[in-house]
Amino acid sequence: MKLGDFLEHYFTNNENLKSELRKITYKYNGTELTFFSDNGVFSKDKLDFGSSLLLETFFKFKSPGNMKILDVGCGYGYMGIVIAKILGYEVTMCDVNKRALHLAEKNCEHNKVTAQVIESNIYSNITDIYDLIITNPPIRAGKDVVYGILDEAREHLKVGGELWFVIRKDQGAKSTIKHLEEKYNCEVVEKSKGFYIIRAENR
Ligand SMILES: C[S@@+](CC[C@H](N)C(=O)[O-])C[C@H]1O[C@@H](n2cnc3c(N)ncnc32)[C@H](O)[C@@H]1O
Repeated sequence: MKLGDFLEHYFTNNENLKSELRKITYKYNGTELTFFSDNGVFSKDKLDFGSSLLLETFFKFKSPGNMKILDVGCGYGYMGIVIAKILGYEVTMCDVNKRALHLAEKNCEHNKVTAQVIESNIYSNITDIYDLIITNPPIRAGKDVVYGILDEAREHLKVGGELWFVIRKDQGAKSTIKHLEEKYNCEVVEKSKGFYIIRAENR
C-alpha cells in the first residue's frame, strides 16, 4: 500500500480507486430499499449507525407532507432516498464526492425515487431555501467543514426551519451545541451509544 492510499479518505475524489459495487438493503415499516455502494464512499459495507439513528428519530417527529429537504453530504443517498420514499418530501442531496453522487443517482433510479443530486462543496452550489436540512457531517473532513455545514445551514433554511444532525459525544457534541445556540434553538432529541441527535431550529 502506498502512503497516498493510506491517507485516502472517503470524501476525496479518486477516480483510480477500483470499483467493487455492492448492495445494502434497508427495511422501514415493510418498505424495502436497496442501496448500491462502492469503494471510496462513506460506510461502504453497511448503513451507518449514526445515520440510521438520525433517520429513525426524524421519522418519530415528522409526517408525510409537502416539505423541501436538503441532505448535505449525502454519500450514496441513504437518508435522502429513504425520506423521499417514506415521507414523500421533495429531496435535494449534495456531496463533494463524485463517486458517491453517481451512486446516489443510481440509487434514486433503482428505488424509484425522484430527487435532485448536486455536486457541492458545503453549500457552494446550493441556491434554494429549504424547510429542513439533514446531515451526518463529515467529522474527518475537519472542524471548518463541519461547522461550515452547520453554521451556513441557516442561509438555506426558512425562519423556523430545522437543521437535523447526528454527532458523537466524543466528537464534540456538547461544544457543537454550545456553538450553535447563538444562532439556533437547539434540542437533543435522542441519545444512544454516545450518538446525539440534534434538532436546531433557525430563529
Ligand atoms: C459521515 S458521511 C455521511 C454520508 C451519508 N449521508 C450517510 O449517512 O451515509 C459525510 C459525507 O460528507 C461528504 N463531505 C465531505 N466533505 C464535504 C464537503 N466539503 N461538502 C459536502 N460534502 C462533504 C462526504 O463525502 C460524505 O459522503
